[in-house]
Amino acid sequence: MTIQRKLHGVWSSRWTFILAVTGSTAGLGNIWRFPYLVGENGGGLFILVYFLCIALIGIPLMMAEISLGRKSRQSPIHAMRDLVLETSAARYWVLIGWFGVVAGLVVLSYYSVIAGWGLEYLFAMGAGEFNGLTTETANSIFSTLMANQSQLIKWQSIFLLSTLLVVSAGVVKGLGIAVHILVPAMFVCLFILVLYSMRQGDFGTAFVYLFSFKPENFSYESIVVAMGHAFFTLSIGMGAMMAYGAYMPDKASIGSSVVIAALFDTLIGLSAGLAVLPLIFASPLLNSAEGPGLLFISLPVVFGNLTGGEYYGAVFFVLVSLAAWTSAISLLEPAVAWLVETRFCGRLVANLVLGALVWLLGLGTVYSFHEGTELFRIWGMSIYHFLDYMITKLLLPISGILIALFVGWVMRRDTVRHELKEDALVLFEWWLATIRYLTPVTVLLIVVFALTNFFADY
Ligand code: PHE
Repeated sequence: MTIQRKLHGVWSSRWTFILAVTGSTAGLGNIWRFPYLVGENGGGLFILVYFLCIALIGIPLMMAEISLGRKSRQSPIHAMRDLVLETSAARYWVLIGWFGVVAGLVVLSYYSVIAGWGLEYLFAMGAGEFNGLTTETANSIFSTLMANQSQLIKWQSIFLLSTLLVVSAGVVKGLGIAVHILVPAMFVCLFILVLYSMRQGDFGTAFVYLFSFKPENFSYESIVVAMGHAFFTLSIGMGAMMAYGAYMPDKASIGSSVVIAALFDTLIGLSAGLAVLPLIFASPLLNSAEGPGLLFISLPVVFGNLTGGEYYGAVFFVLVSLAAWTSAISLLEPAVAWLVETRFCGRLVANLVLGALVWLLGLGTVYSFHEGTELFRIWGMSIYHFLDYMITKLLLPISGILIALFVGWVMRRDTVRHELKEDALVLFEWWLATIRYLTPVTVLLIVVFALTNFFADY
């Protein structure tokens, strides 16, 4: 057994790996963002483009990232450092590892604040505080919360602590056990909610909203959004997949495991839509399901006015919290693994140091959603919007391009083939061609487009 394997451990089976990846990919992105992005960007047409992005670009890239991790069995930064030495490539390629680790920590900083809102809503819902809620009251509850920084910090801290708890217990005893419990629990919550929504909601309208083609709402910008979301939801470019790949058993097939996890992720996104939208459309109190307020304004109104709504509403926010939790651990793990490998400290101290850093950065997001209290604005954006924009629209796609170029052109074909040896040769050839040509070119076009748009708007 190599030193690295002893240092962090290996997932107990291929299924643990699949569950861990599913836990990472299915997160706030699926439940909070996906349903309203579909609504805003042309319904079925957006879903179609999003599927294409997942199948043609997302899955091949995930496979590439995971192979890099498994090949070197270390944190993204050290993995890239060793692979660069091995291939005698330029030192700059190590940036792939740094981008991943830093992006993971930055995303975790705002992720934990938004997950914190979910916790607040979970308890308020369960306590029946939303019973008989009107839209006006829901709006004012949400804006009062956004202005109540100490409450936001309390929940952000609780969420971060629960993340640290899992990650500090290590790969086998922490993450491995957690995903075996939390990911199936997510499926159970979703199942209960979809059934409830089928009985109580307007399934037909929701179906049309999600799947009918509305080209009038679709623009080039929607393609950028679809691609950005595909990257975000598949946890690509943030070191998470590389780190999880590093703990993958030797003989497990990367290709089929990734396809299963990506299918689960998509299934969870679509069922989350089918769990909430029918209820929204059936509610006489609401007329649309738009925007980020969907989860925290429209849904409490809906659940607050249905029989048994407080229980199902609580189940919904349990789902939100579980999804956020299993993603958050994968955002922290790459940085923790790196710090442990430097041998400056053990896992516990690494967690505490990085947790404190993320917590501090998260304060920028805490103060981002209430006009009077914003700390400062960058290019006209709040700190949260700025960080999210930079990461999802620029850093993730750029990381994606670099990963594709490194695996496709810099690494030796045999080395890559060896990692993907369980997959048939034809599939391998197809995959390699995608990674060499299709991925870098399409992603580059999309980044350039996003940039020109940004400067045109600015
Ligand atoms: N995939 C997660 C989501 O959809 C976010 C995430 C990105 C988690 C990268 C880990 C790493 O919400």
